[in-house]
Amino acid sequence: MSTTRREVFGRLADGTDVHRWTLERGGTLLRVLDYGGIVQTLERPDRTGHVANLSLGFPDLVSYTTASPYFGALIGRYGNRIAEGRFTLDGTTYHLPVNDGPNSLHGGEDGFDKRVWDVRPNGGHGLTLALTSPHGDQGYPGRLDVEVDYTLGEDGSLRIDYRAVTDAPTVVNLTSHIYFNLAGEGSGGVGDHRLGLAAAHYTPVDEHLIPTGEIAPVAGTPFDFRRAKPVGRDLRDGHPQLLRAQGYDHNMLLDKGVTEEPEHAATLYDPGSGRLMTVATTEPALQLYSGNFLDGTLTGGSGRAYRQTDALCLETQHCPDSPNRPSFPSTVLRPGETYRSSTVYAFAVR
Ligand code: GLA
Repeated sequence: MSTTRREVFGRLADGTDVHRWTLERGGTLLRVLDYGGIVQTLERPDRTGHVANLSLGFPDLVSYTTASPYFGALIGRYGNRIAEGRFTLDGTTYHLPVNDGPNSLHGGEDGFDKRVWDVRPNGGHGLTLALTSPHGDQGYPGRLDVEVDYTLGEDGSLRIDYRAVTDAPTVVNLTSHIYFNLAGEGSGGVGDHRLGLAAAHYTPVDEHLIPTGEIAPVAGTPFDFRRAKPVGRDLRDGHPQLLRAQGYDHNMLLDKGVTEEPEHAATLYDPGSGRLMTVATTEPALQLYSGNFLDGTLTGGSGRAYRQTDALCLETQHCPDSPNRPSFPSTVLRPGETYRSSTVYAFAVR
């Protein structure tokens, strides 16, 4: 069965109506807002058939506009950090708004997560979200025309395809900021979730979470998820990198690198519910974020407070600060080229 519905979710201060779209297929119920392209809920049954929402989020629009740490949102133009909000491209230095200590995070103060996207149904099982970001938007050069498809597969998998074109050289790094808890949002911590990552290296960070440039092996460190292990097993290890980020907030370099088609990146399994998720992507890296900044001040759809480690983000992307790191895979997009990125989240129960 497949259905696509639309309803009014709320109204912004400027009078703009925000809509919520619902898609259903293969046992997955997905709710998407045109505001921020936010995945508001992603509902799936557990091994006994009990349905839960696996994605942290709010029941109302005002929480999203005032308090959201990017719950479920589309992130652009540049997912993750650019050091000191500055980069040089073709000899011109661009200045971006700084919104994370000295850095620019997730596209700046007014990123794509705060825009109302144009949404249209696509193919019966999907939505296409479109956004035009004018030249100079949040300091970035070039007019960027972006399209993102959310598609539910027959098996209930969620596929996200990102495309963008520009009229001047620029940088792009789009991602989705879903906070996953396979036991259901509001059910507590994900410390018992078993995480596997096809990543033998990661990028250590400085005190502002900017990669130092070092490509470090995960072997012998808490960052080694090559054999799946509980997320919480090494979280209190005392490793200087974990202390620095208050947990995992690191860019894991996927062994496969950039690929034409989505290839295996991660598995996440919740032994309690039996829910299993696999992540495949075309991207060369994934930001592993263990919800370190959730401090109990936000309540989600279930009415329960979100605390540190209540979810895991697996943000497929290019590396942070790539515009300032010529040795990292390039995030430069030029006129005539099309930026493409795809990620598939597939689900099963065991
Ligand atoms: C990303 C960043 C984190 C944090 C979250 C949002 O995962 O890497 O440091 O900013 O987004 O709170």
